[in-house]
Amino acid sequence: MKIGIIGGGNMGSAFAKGLRKNLKGACVVISDKKHAGKKIVESNIAAARNADVLILAVKPQDLAECLRGLRGAISKNCIVISIAAGVKVNKISRLLRHKFVCRVMPNLLATIGKSISTWYAPGFNAGQKLIVKNILRAVGEEIGVKSDDYIDKASCISGCGPAYVWYFMENLIKAGVSLGLTEAVSRKLTSQTFLGAAKMGTGVAERDGGIKNLRLAVTSKKGTTEQAIKIFEKKKMPAIFSAAVKAAYKRTKELSK
Ligand SMILES: NC(=O)c1ccc[n+]([C@@H]2O[C@H](COP(=O)([O-])OP(=O)(O)OC[C@H]3O[C@@H](n4cnc5c(N)ncnc54)[C@H](OP(=O)(O)O)[C@@H]3O)[C@@H](O)[C@H]2O)c1
Repeated sequence: MKIGIIGGGNMGSAFAKGLRKNLKGACVVISDKKHAGKKIVESNIAAARNADVLILAVKPQDLAECLRGLRGAISKNCIVISIAAGVKVNKISRLLRHKFVCRVMPNLLATIGKSISTWYAPGFNAGQKLIVKNILRAVGEEIGVKSDDYIDKASCISGCGPAYVWYFMENLIKAGVSLGLTEAVSRKLTSQTFLGAAKMGTGVAERDGGIKNLRLAVTSKKGTTEQAIKIFEKKKMPAIFSAAVKAAYKRTKELSK
């Protein structure tokens, strides 16, 4: 199976690595501006020609130009997968003049094979959907959804999500230092705590009440953690999370106009 990738940056490279490692029979060809220079249109066409699957991994602002250059170069049954944030399936279909377009929202964890990718593929048959799933499983896990809007919403959780987690880590490190720990110790404590908590919480989070029960196991009545959680509640942490995610969603809508 020939898989062309347009754009060899963070995400394009992560997909190439995952596909080469995990998808049997995949022949991956990448085209990127950095290497192709002025011959970028020819290079993109070479990656797209006779491809069974074409992954579009350029920035949203570069997508329209890229699609115009690819018009007419793609086989009729090629599965086009766009990972560009905020760009709807219809727009890609129209600019490319191509029927089979799937929109995907992966995340940066694709770099280590741990992405969670949501995908929307209107008009795809079961065989085509299976190809999409297998491509995405090469970089992590996947969930099929029923609309562009669902992708927009999901992207505010899982697309942006790694940044939220790392922001929390940054602040926990700072809080440790403010208590008098050395920065090195605070970093190590935070890093290992997140690793363990993520491992122990994975899967458990998918069960009703699972993640809350884990938290409660650490939060003894009248204990120290309880005091910290009380502050999170008093400062309205749940409302802060909700407002932050809504702001991300609003921005997604502005960008996809
Ligand atoms: N990074 C994330 O966490 C993340 C998560 C989910 C989805 N995404 C989506 O993934 C896409 C790629 O993001 P990224 O972080 O991988 O960006 P990136 O690192 O900037 O990679 C994009 C690459 O495409 C190249 N390029 C630009 N125009 C091109 C063209 N016409 N033909 C071929 N290559 C071209 C760029 O070259 P130049 O730099 O020389 O322009 C760059 O090397 C974006 O649409 C983004 O919305 C990213």
